[in-house]
Amino acid sequence: MKLAGKVAFITGGAQGIGKAIAAEFAAEGATVIISDINLEVAQKTADELSATGAKAKAFKQNVADFEETTKVIEAAAAEFGKIDILINNAGITKDALLIRMKPEEWSAVVSVNLTGVFNCTKAVASIMMKARTGKIVNIASIVGLMGNAGQANYSATKAGVIGFTKTMAKELASRNILVNAIAPGFIDTEMTKKIPVEIQEKMKEQIPLKKLGLPQDIAKAAVFLSSSDSDYITGQVLSVNGGMYM
Ligand code: NAI
Repeated sequence: MKLAGKVAFITGGAQGIGKAIAAEFAAEGATVIISDINLEVAQKTADELSATGAKAKAFKQNVADFEETTKVIEAAAAEFGKIDILINNAGITKDALLIRMKPEEWSAVVSVNLTGVFNCTKAVASIMMKARTGKIVNIASIVGLMGNAGQANYSATKAGVIGFTKTMAKELASRNILVNAIAPGFIDTEMTKKIPVEIQEKMKEQIPLKKLGLPQDIAKAAVFLSSSDSDYITGQVLSVNGGMYM
């Protein structure tokens, strides 16, 4: 088991990619803290994992709220004694062409996808710095690398997450805290189910592997970047996209 004895804090862990990461981490021996703005679904996920014998606990947290985030992360660290791994996964979309995008749609996506990553990383970094060890994995996106019409807000936050990842890798390396990003391509979750079927079909044509990825594909990359298998890797962006962007 690659994560035996580790404590992992996963934001947006209730469903989709975050849930798959929680399940894969639990299977690798980690204690998983599932934080989500939707406590009901997060609790269900934690119960499902606990039923398999895993150690899992749900917390209600809005990553965009600095005070709440700090309190939740401190409470989790106090309960489990440490946080070895942070997965900044919570994210939202509010798609529209620039011309129609409302300022509140811009701000909402920035608050969750970018400020949320800052809030969680800041709270966890002070815990990891004292421990002089840690792994942080930020879930960016292919569109942060290549852009996407209709996603000015979302692609800007994901490109921002990549810049933030590299800066954190430099700032935290001396404390043995390794920070990397995963840039998923199109993954089959509730987020992509919102996209009309005909556009989904067009998207598949652009993917050399001709299919959407599964949440488990991202979870396996997250295990790699959170385990000792990646102890000489920091500041990198791992693309998991079926070859859609090279
Ligand atoms: P999803 O919509 O299925 O799950 C997102 C989770 O985040 C939900 O459980 C939701 O309740 C939670 N969440 C939303 N706002 C929150 C907040 N303010 N605080 C805490 N939790 C919050 O989405 P999915 O597809 O699992 O996405 C996960 C991450 O992967 C996101 O960062 C997304 O941008 C990224 N991603 C997804 C891709 C895809 O194709 N599905 C592609 C590239 C990146």
